[in-house]
Amino acid sequence: MKPRKVTKAVFPVAGLGTRFLPATKSIPKEIMTLVDRPLIQYAIDEARAAGIKEFIFVTSRGKSALEDYFDHAPELESALRKKGKDDLLEVLKDTNMDSGAIAYVRQNRPMGLGHAVWCARRLIGNEPFAVLLPDDVIAAEKSCLAQMVEAYEQTGGNMVAAMEVPPPKASAYGVLDIAEDMGTIVRAKGMVEKPKAEEAPSNLAVIGRYILSPKVLTNLNRMKQGAGGEIQLTDAIAEEIGEGGSGVYGYRFRGQRYDCGSKAGFLQATVAFGMARDDLRDEFSAYLHDTLAQQKAAQ
Ligand code: G1P
Repeated sequence: MKPRKVTKAVFPVAGLGTRFLPATKSIPKEIMTLVDRPLIQYAIDEARAAGIKEFIFVTSRGKSALEDYFDHAPELESALRKKGKDDLLEVLKDTNMDSGAIAYVRQNRPMGLGHAVWCARRLIGNEPFAVLLPDDVIAAEKSCLAQMVEAYEQTGGNMVAAMEVPPPKASAYGVLDIAEDMGTIVRAKGMVEKPKAEEAPSNLAVIGRYILSPKVLTNLNRMKQGAGGEIQLTDAIAEEIGEGGSGVYGYRFRGQRYDCGSKAGFLQATVAFGMARDDLRDEFSAYLHDTLAQQKAAQ
């Protein structure tokens, strides 16, 4: 039997974004832009391409710019209409949501990713749901979540995006303990959040895309503090492994992931997305080429 369709997605966006201070003093991290689109837009586009119809944001104080971003802007729209700027009106369309398609809940205390997802439990109800962490930006021909939805239709259970990382870096991630490796899909026999590098069960890391059974929400009801003193989503998913659980699968996605939660990753993504743009590629690549040549000559 095919699992129920995934139409709801949770976007945990409550974090303070301290790594990007001072910028994030007055703007949410998720509004920071790659070229001309905020990080959150990339996650929303990916979710839409995967068939998501309901978007649940877990926010906190100071995130109202996110709500404004996904609302209509009547003054701006009428000014653009008057000037005949149809191309810009078209660009704005991606920022609009159908009435009732977007909901916001607040995480009133920063207690971790598991707690953030749990805050959305009443909006999710008793159906499978996706979670997308907007810090992880994934450039892919077919949206990463869409790839996962397709695989999930075969496996059911719970699915996390997975990617091999250099072993010393594994301690920065949730890491899968592999029971069965089927190539694109692995079946997990364990999952650890931020293990010590020498204790990591593999170097297959969890990347911020999840398709989860509502049982994970029930597990989160009972969850105690885990790694870093936070309530970890990884721990609640790991409870679904083994007897009585609904199963956990890792999915090796096709695409390039950028860690936009770090400055270096953000800059790399900026270069990659700039180079991918037809309207910028020539000028931008000439600039990069000249800059690198000048640097080399100076050495
Ligand atoms: C979160 C998850 C972790 C995952 C990572 C991917 O960690 O807890 O399991 O590997 O995202 O980006 P964070 O980076 O928020 O500390």
